[in-house]
Amino acid sequence: MKNLVFLIVILFNLGMQFSSMETNPEVKVSEIALEWHFIAMGDSRNWEVLTVNPLRASIMNEVVEANPNLEFILHSGDLVNQGGDQREWDLWFEDIENATLNNVTIYSAIGNHEIYAVDGPDDQDFSTYMENVNLPGNERFYSFNYNKIHFIILNTEENWNGQFEMTTEQREWLITDLENNRLDFIVGLYHRPCFSVRSVARQNDAKEIREVLQPIFIDYGVDLVFAGHDHQYYRTFRDGVMHVTTGGAGAPLYPKDTNSEWQEGDVFFSNYHYINVSVTEYMNESVSLQLDMYIYYEENQSISLGDSFQLPMNYVPSTTTTTITSTTSTMTTSVITIFPVLTIVAGLTIISIIKKMER
Ligand SMILES: [Fe+2]
Repeated sequence: MKNLVFLIVILFNLGMQFSSMETNPEVKVSEIALEWHFIAMGDSRNWEVLTVNPLRASIMNEVVEANPNLEFILHSGDLVNQGGDQREWDLWFEDIENATLNNVTIYSAIGNHEIYAVDGPDDQDFSTYMENVNLPGNERFYSFNYNKIHFIILNTEENWNGQFEMTTEQREWLITDLENNRLDFIVGLYHRPCFSVRSVARQNDAKEIREVLQPIFIDYGVDLVFAGHDHQYYRTFRDGVMHVTTGGAGAPLYPKDTNSEWQEGDVFFSNYHYINVSVTEYMNESVSLQLDMYIYYEENQSISLGDSFQLPMNYVPSTTTTTITSTTSTMTTSVITIFPVLTIVAGLTIISIIKKMER
């Protein structure tokens, strides 16, 4: 009889264990649909006309070698020193050979040095630049979609005369482009920044640019813009638009000479650098960006993380708790309730049968 009671206990415990194996139908399901990344950088020009700038090649090599899966590079302009001279472009292509060999696409904006003529300063001639690039649209200003992000590349050098009078052609194109855009997240790229801590003169130039561009960015929900021209790293968040100046890809560095534009939360570095932008796209169509600025140290050719932030700010990636299927859940609930009872009934039946056999 003792053995029979023991048998019932074992059967009951087995039933409970079997039930508990089926009692966890809820699982955490990530909503991440896609992850990819690109690089933002700018101002890689050689320090003097027709001279080699080893930094330009070293930083580009670092970018290519440290980021084998990058989708493309955004370059905010001043690729070369005197863009009207083809020999400058020959030097450029030598320095970015590693990127070319690895089929890395570079989407560039036109900088003031791109249109410096052989015989003098800016002559508003974009032709040599355009002979050396292969970009969408008219190549001076253009846009493209990449997964769930819309990119707009503008030309702050067009009609620049110490003042920024955006041409009717570029303005109409930009407005039409943004009105037709169907993607929520928008990233801009151009050369002269909307906010500057470089100097009072640069600050005044920046005011010219932002009076034209910032209202458009606000109206059409532009989230993030990259500029260059100031050879430094500076980010400032204004009226919902994150402005990042990235001018650290090899041109001589500039200090911070004025604080009058500075606001709480701004970040500044006077270092060579590039920015890795990691994009996460979610099943619910939302997008979040992780921006990591890496400082490049010329002395020992090493990098370290300088600044890091996320857009949208304080974004919490969502996960959903869900059941595997409602049918499984119902069946499991039934099994939990019934199985121990069944084991007891089965045990009692076995006892009864054995007792009868003993007789
Ligand atoms: Fe510049």
